[in-house]
Amino acid sequence: DKGNHRHFMAKEIAEQPEVVGRTLSHYLDLAAGKVRLPFDLPFDAEKLSRVTISACGTAYYAGLIGRYWIERHARLAVEIDIASEFRYREAPLPAHGLTILVSQSGETADTLAALRYAKAQGQHILSIVNVETSTIARESDTAALTLAGPEIGVASTKAFTCQLAVFAALAIALGRARGVLSEEDEQRLVRELAATPGQMAAALAREAEIEPVARDVARASSVLYLGRGAAYPLALEGALKLKELSYIHAEGYAAGELKHGPIALIDYAMPVIVLAPPDATLEKTVSNLQEVAARGGHLILIGSAAARAAAASELAGFIELPEISSAFAPLVYAIPVQLLAYHAAVFMGKDVDQPRNLAKSVTVE
Ligand code: F6R
Repeated sequence: DKGNHRHFMAKEIAEQPEVVGRTLSHYLDLAAGKVRLPFDLPFDAEKLSRVTISACGTAYYAGLIGRYWIERHARLAVEIDIASEFRYREAPLPAHGLTILVSQSGETADTLAALRYAKAQGQHILSIVNVETSTIARESDTAALTLAGPEIGVASTKAFTCQLAVFAALAIALGRARGVLSEEDEQRLVRELAATPGQMAAALAREAEIEPVARDVARASSVLYLGRGAAYPLALEGALKLKELSYIHAEGYAAGELKHGPIALIDYAMPVIVLAPPDATLEKTVSNLQEVAARGGHLILIGSAAARAAAASELAGFIELPEISSAFAPLVYAIPVQLLAYHAAVFMGKDVDQPRNLAKSVTVE
């Protein structure tokens, strides 16, 4: 049931404050300002030397963002690879290590093979899954559920942000269990995390401003997304969403890589979408934006009014997001990224719920 929405995807994008909120309340004790995982960690967190993450597509990008959070908040080394590579790499895995698989459907063939490989190597298996009865959930030591509800649109949206919510809670829990986060740190991070559904709702309220930007993007034949830190995987996700829905070629790049090659592409025909959430790297991202501006680039900025002011450059488009604290900004910045791809594809008359050649669940490798 699409409710009042034209497409399942629109409904699922709009549902995110609710389902992320529901997922967070499953992992947080909001009254106490603490993380409260609905399961015991099946390992000694202090002895963990490394976390391995594997997944496919959008779930892999959630894992990439999870890596930034686990490294920062739990001071744990993370290695991550796409499942179709990981399963054949014969990667040595540390004794008693933790392997995290991420999957909406819980049936993705490569992700399941990665799980079985890690299990055979004696890893603790934790999966972040949306379907409780799925094969991946059943074969895991611990199934960390995303409470996104059924996702019908082929392009993943609400499952992605719910995966981020679980990664955020897990990073804080691991940080506490390893003694690297104080109780005050935990309370501050839980407060920031608990604020994200409201901020996501505020981002959804910018939809009318996103539409004209999407119409502009729909005229392009190639689009570049740039981001730094945890916004870098979001740039990859933005490019994936745009190409699978609108069939416009798009690439995501780490903003710092711009001058190592892609800057040669800059001209006014190629929109450059800069994701500039408020974090320690904002200044660097802004200077990359200015490098694009100096070469006559077609700039679209997704950021706060402060980022807009710092950019001090001519923009073809600006999607303004509220000024938010930085720790879990990708949860909020995911919204305009999804809406941009959605509206570009709708404007072009594409079938957003069922893009050509794609299947919701990829059960063959
Ligand atoms: C992109 C998308 C895919 C899936 C990928 C993994 O919008 O939906 O990239 O994320 O096929 O699927 P799951 O999460 O079911 O393992």
